[in-house]
Amino acid sequence: MTTTPDTRPENRVLIFDTTLRDGEQSPGATMTHAEKLEIAELLDEMGVDIIEAGFPIASEGDFKAVSEIAKQSKNATICGLARANYKDIDRCWEAVKHARSPRIHTFIGTSPLHRAIPNLTKDEMAQRIHDTVTHARNLCDNVQWSPMDATRTEWDYLARVVEIAIKAGATTINIPDTVGYTAPMESAQLIRRLIAEVPGADEIIFATHCHNDLGMATANSLAAVEGGARQIECTINGLGERAGNTALEEVVMALKVRHDILPWDTGIDTRKIMNISRRVATVSGFPVQFNKAIVGKNAFAHESGIHQDGMLKNAETFEIMRPEDVGLSGTSLPLGKHSGRAALRSKLKELGFELADNQLNDTFVRFKDLADRKKEVYDDDLIALVRQNEAVSDRVRLKSLKVICGTEGPQHAEMTLTIDDEEKSVDATGDGPVDATFNAIKALFPHEARLQLYQVAAVTEGTDAQATVSVRLEEDGRIATGQSADTDTVVASAKAYINAVNRLLVRREKTAPNADVKGVGYMDAGQ
Ligand code: KIV
Ligand code: ZN
Repeated sequence: MTTTPDTRPENRVLIFDTTLRDGEQSPGATMTHAEKLEIAELLDEMGVDIIEAGFPIASEGDFKAVSEIAKQSKNATICGLARANYKDIDRCWEAVKHARSPRIHTFIGTSPLHRAIPNLTKDEMAQRIHDTVTHARNLCDNVQWSPMDATRTEWDYLARVVEIAIKAGATTINIPDTVGYTAPMESAQLIRRLIAEVPGADEIIFATHCHNDLGMATANSLAAVEGGARQIECTINGLGERAGNTALEEVVMALKVRHDILPWDTGIDTRKIMNISRRVATVSGFPVQFNKAIVGKNAFAHESGIHQDGMLKNAETFEIMRPEDVGLSGTSLPLGKHSGRAALRSKLKELGFELADNQLNDTFVRFKDLADRKKEVYDDDLIALVRQNEAVSDRVRLKSLKVICGTEGPQHAEMTLTIDDEEKSVDATGDGPVDATFNAIKALFPHEARLQLYQVAAVTEGTDAQATVSVRLEEDGRIATGQSADTDTVVASAKAYINAVNRLLVRREKTAPNADVKGVGYMDAGQ
């Protein structure tokens, strides 16, 4: 067994990314196996210290993803989540043990509300924590333990169970603000007090894990670091349950830009932030809000005359960091229909895409087609173009679509789909072109999924802009979000719907041995 103990200099904060576990728990944010591997590789390359790759007992798919990520990881510690029972912990170890540096992360809800669910007394829970952490530590010498809902756990009990976990061998104690309830001063104070008062606390690393229900996750995480935490748990774009988690890009850039008052270093190559942010937005189906700090489309955009004037004279007047620091090219030089393959390759490289020759050829054909329809092709158009064909499982594919619409209804959609390599066609009607299109998909590929969300956004400006469409479907509690971009909004809508259907098929294949695993169901935490 090879592990790397997390002993780092005092001023170093470890970045623990849980996009693939807590982030993927967001309703609708399902990623395919290949997408998870790709995101893990990007996280590893950008310098994330610990990647929480999944919840191995949750499904065969999660187990395989964590095992593969463990095998492929070059630098990062690979961690898997396990509830407080031996079965979960054993399964987690089976998956992470392949890593150069594996970690088991085990947790149990310690607040009164959470203790009531498995109906354990304080003493029974304390015993379980002792037994399960000891079991994990016998398998792996890098063990993280979390008292879920720590910020609503009575102080005396929290201090008691943290001490038990440390004595049982936990090397990292994570203090989750599971419901985004704490506030910065309280967050700092809690960690400071645990370190000062719990025996053995100075020998392990404290981590902070904040949810964003009150919009304070990033502030709470940074405050926890001021209180002594040396590991921040976060996700790309703040993806996560409900209002999400602390966003990796926010804490990392805050530590960089305000190093004068937040003097802690991370190992993150910040120039890789924008690329991974865009990639996670695409594969999770959760577009980044325009005004999101650091990674939003408007984060470096200046509209008002006064701001533009100031920017032209000195960028520092209205920018506290340079766009290049997070991987933006700064200026956007559009390509057009006369641009050649070399220009496209170089632009894509600048945007973080290194395509193989055949992929470049495919993209070039689609780029020319887009350039014929659009005067200028911007960076965001290109990104949408490269990604729109990165299909999911592709059991269902759009072959052709012709829509007849206008003031005289009903609108018609003539569609051909390739379903499991067989072509099927239909002519469907509907209340508007999008409704007719979706009815055509339902006629060709019957399913019970309900449309929960249909959202259209323009990637770039002008009437020839590419539209990005997001579609969210729900079927028996399973949610899948699909996304696509095209200059034709109806075509983008069809592709987004089909993308969501393909993701739903992936979701169907996930067979959870315990149906409530993803909902943090630890009720069967028996050993
Ligand atoms: O939010 C939370 O409490 C969690 C735990 C599993 C650490 O995600
Ligand atoms: Zn969480």
